[in-house]
Amino acid sequence: MSETQSVRYEVVDKIGVITIDNPPVNALGPGVREGIIEALERGNGDAGVEAFVLIGSGRNFIAGADVRQFGKTRPVGTRVSAAAIDDSAKPVVAAIHGYALGGGLEHALACHYRIATPGARLGLPEVTLGIIPGGGGTQRLTRLVGPRVALDLIASGRQMSADEARRLGIVDEIVPDGDLRGAAVRYAKGVAARRPLPRVRDRTDHVLEARGDADLAEALAASLGAKARKLQAPRAALEAVRAAVSSDFDEGVQIEQQLFEKLENADEAKALRYAFFAEREAGKIPGAPESFKPPPVKSAAVIGAGTMGGGIAICFADVGIPVKVLDATAEGLERGMQRIRETYAVRVKRKSLTQAQMDERLALIHPVDSYDAIGDCDAVIEAVFERIDLKKDVFNRLEAVMKPGALLLTNSSAIDINVMAGETSRPQDVAGAHFFAPANVMKLCEIVRGDQSSIETIVRAVKMGRDLGKISVVAGTCDGFAANRSRAPLVTEAMLMLEEGALPEQIDKVMVDFGYPMGPFAVSDLSGLDVSYDTRKRRAAADPNFRKLHVPDRMVELGRKGQKTRAGWYRYEEGDRTPHPDEAVKRIIAEVARELGTPQRSFTDEEILKRLLFASVNEACKILEDGKAYRGSDIDVMWLHGFGFPRHRGGLMFWADGVGAREVHRQVAEWHERYGRRWTPSRLLAEIAGRDGQLRDARAQA
Ligand code: 3HC
Repeated sequence: MSETQSVRYEVVDKIGVITIDNPPVNALGPGVREGIIEALERGNGDAGVEAFVLIGSGRNFIAGADVRQFGKTRPVGTRVSAAAIDDSAKPVVAAIHGYALGGGLEHALACHYRIATPGARLGLPEVTLGIIPGGGGTQRLTRLVGPRVALDLIASGRQMSADEARRLGIVDEIVPDGDLRGAAVRYAKGVAARRPLPRVRDRTDHVLEARGDADLAEALAASLGAKARKLQAPRAALEAVRAAVSSDFDEGVQIEQQLFEKLENADEAKALRYAFFAEREAGKIPGAPESFKPPPVKSAAVIGAGTMGGGIAICFADVGIPVKVLDATAEGLERGMQRIRETYAVRVKRKSLTQAQMDERLALIHPVDSYDAIGDCDAVIEAVFERIDLKKDVFNRLEAVMKPGALLLTNSSAIDINVMAGETSRPQDVAGAHFFAPANVMKLCEIVRGDQSSIETIVRAVKMGRDLGKISVVAGTCDGFAANRSRAPLVTEAMLMLEEGALPEQIDKVMVDFGYPMGPFAVSDLSGLDVSYDTRKRRAAADPNFRKLHVPDRMVELGRKGQKTRAGWYRYEEGDRTPHPDEAVKRIIAEVARELGTPQRSFTDEEILKRLLFASVNEACKILEDGKAYRGSDIDVMWLHGFGFPRHRGGLMFWADGVGAREVHRQVAEWHERYGRRWTPSRLLAEIAGRDGQLRDARAQA
């Protein structure tokens, strides 16, 4: 392939049409920028060409720089090809459909006119990759829409619709779907003779106005949320936008470039790039036949109208898929429907949804009162109480009514998928679809393979999750599956450190400083301390070696169940969710420690962090050893989307690689000596440590 095969150039009715053809998303990969520059040179030197159209072939305009090229030497920067567009003596019209993101939007901003189809999505998502736009985007956008709007878009990385872009003046005209190229050529002909060219870089109205705005500096700084302020890229975005206001265009571009280069190879950007690709890798199912194209789920049913069931139903309705909801009792069904209505009403109140959208979505959720009513659905998700007898009963009934080939899914969070599959004559169609609470908010959908689930079932379930806007990650069936099983040791260690002298607020602070939105104790208060109490009691009864967690047990026995009782690891004021450290908790912990005779000591922040996370890294390796996850990076995706692990740290395994597998193993082995069985080092961890390998690259062993 020649360097410029990814860019086509042809002259249509005196308009030079430059088409980016670099599947799958027209990223600005090798050859694309050069191709654009060459085409502009040809057309500018051709007296038969009056203007240009820049357009993407396939699904979209341009999805941005090629993220795989970051950290490598780039022969021609986005800056240079965008500047070539800007410098063109003949007008260039960007014709946008699908995505115009990052460097893609920067190229469009360098064009002299922009038209878009109604479904186009535009944005500068660079901060989500730990960088800022590096092709003049911070400077041009600020000139085009003013610093406040520009910073909002750049620092959030959010996408906007064509309609919003039109309102902001980023897009000049919206043209109907169908023949974008034809419309763009016509548009180009209409503006071909107009001079001077409306170059965004020459716009001064917004920056001059901003220079006279005494409140601007403070307002811009304040507009970065607390979370964004902790990260380098949004802070750099602020600096770049400020530079756009205070400097001339060329100086501003230089400042942007310097900021970009500083960020590109920083740890934050490396972690965020890794997370981007890990998420995409998680969707790939080893052994899936390439020829199998999973049919989409077009209709669904949810069994159980509790909090989870209702949340799952909302997920379907939110993406326009009709969903039937069935419950064991009419009252349960009505309560569930009421909760669904309330959830939507809150969204309307918060203005994230209009009343009309709420009505449309509610119209897709159909309460039904019999199994016969759901038989023709493409997929059914069982979300009844976590009791084996109930689940078995549901699958027995599903066996009787569901059409052949329907996906039979269970939202169980712990019960072996094989138990449910065993109730049907079609275990190949059964799998887990484990949503995380609240189901309509959390992005993780853990797809759980039973021993007999067919690969096609897994591929279909993964696609269903993705179609719901979730990140589907596959796990094998075992206690806790992969996500919760890998997190459980973190919680155990947090609880056991209390016996040794740590306090909930100290541990939570370490995790929040690390980047979690909440520490494990605040989370426990939110979900309720009693949730795991019964499970622990059952396990203790069944396994004489089970390490009892005396402190949380005592808390529950004293009625401290978390936010719902206004007392848990923290105390809460009436109607307020702010956690306040509580002397009573200190006393309970001290009392338990005295009874156990555990010597008291103090912990450094580093020890707390390592103790919690290494315990989980060790377990994650055991999960891979047992073949219950495909890849180390899949564990990371689960932690990012199921447990609020800070994205700028990549994920559990990526973070541990930063420490080094050898060091993790050494410490795990030492704690094994000190604390015994639960710290038994994973064989896989030892093996990876022995060859100084990467945990994130580990693969399922069994
Ligand atoms: N670079 C390299 N590969 C990319 C890419 C990019 N910018 N965007 C997508 N891809 C790849 C994906 O890795 C995936 O590859 P795979 O099939 O081998 O796994 C393939 O394209 C399809 O991507 P998705 O599965 O994500 O497809 P979707 O249709 O779900 O989403 C998308 C499409 C919204 C464009 C999404 O891929 C996306 O958000 N891409 C990243 C966009 C982005 O961040 N752009 C800014 C880049 S930084 C930049 O431009 C810097 C500049 O300022 C200098």
